[in-house]
Amino acid sequence: MKAGVLGAGHFVPEKIVTNFDLEKRMDTSDEWIRTRTGIEERRIASDEMDTSDMGLEAAKRALSDAEVAGEDIDLILVATVTPDMPFPSVACILQEQLGAKKAAAMDLSAACSGFMYGMVTAAQFIETGAYKNVLVVGVEKLSKIVDWEDRNTAVLFGDGAGAVVMGPVSEDKGILSFELGADGSGGKHLYQDRYIQMNGREVFKFAVRQMGESCVNVIEKAGLKREDVDFLIPHQANMRIMESARERLGLPLEKMSTTVRSYGNTSSASIPISISEAAENGQIKDGDTIVLVGFGGGLTWGAIALRWGR
Ligand code: UT7
Repeated sequence: MKAGVLGAGHFVPEKIVTNFDLEKRMDTSDEWIRTRTGIEERRIASDEMDTSDMGLEAAKRALSDAEVAGEDIDLILVATVTPDMPFPSVACILQEQLGAKKAAAMDLSAACSGFMYGMVTAAQFIETGAYKNVLVVGVEKLSKIVDWEDRNTAVLFGDGAGAVVMGPVSEDKGILSFELGADGSGGKHLYQDRYIQMNGREVFKFAVRQMGESCVNVIEKAGLKREDVDFLIPHQANMRIMESARERLGLPLEKMSTTVRSYGNTSSASIPISISEAAENGQIKDGDTIVLVGFGGGLTWGAIALRWGR
């Protein structure tokens, strides 16, 4: 049995915070943020809107796109480091709100790589035939763990949610190969105490090396060549990091998702938001070969080679 994506959806809060808005709040500039990160603006959720509220909207849209009803979901996996509360999990909150009565539900913590870990976990249940419809959500309200006094991190992050419904697909579609990894010794470079703490330069070096390597590894494992790749969806943290992965694959700019410009780094939500937008605007089409690749705190990383369609 092959596991693939049956439908996708995303949700971002209405409130836009531009680089110019941040200039007024802290010692930074639109020019610095754009040239160092590629970010132009980000979305910030209101006090009333918590992580599960954004996740629910994205989940509903993904289910509608997949034409799967809440009661037909077998498992809900939510990748997040900003749950509403430690427990119950965001997944359990969604389980009730979606009427997913028969679904098992749990959250998964792998920081910005969370959605890659989620998709790969979902695929194992589908490929063994244990489950049919698995809802995988990546959602973050990072604004609640960002130190708005720290310009090193405050300018980078945003809030949002993306989701996919995964299930069995035809033999030539779905997940072709994957790679997951972790290096706990690098945990000190990116962590949360009260707020996000980051050694930007160390994370940058790790990300450039790991994203490139993971892309090449999943392409080789799938028996593909670089030129077979139709579209690249890297974790949207920093345009310069993403560019290094794109160049490693020799792809033109229009074959890479660049939602970081509008949403900043939304951690585990960045890849599913990008999947959903790319499917919506026709950047990815039935039969396309796509590489998804993420990295993040832990340190963790993950990549998937995927053939789009059912
Ligand atoms: O999902 C994973 C999350 N993390 C990441 O992906 C982060 C990876 N790292 C990065 O993206 C980059 O390292 C940053 C964007 C965070 C920083 O870019 P950089 O080119 O590595 O800059 P830098 O850390 O070398 O800092 C250059 C200068 C410093 O000033 P000095 O020490 O050279 O005088 C910073 O203090 O830029 C200063 N700076 C800022 N200036 C204006 C740092 N943040 C800002 C800011 N506005 N917001």
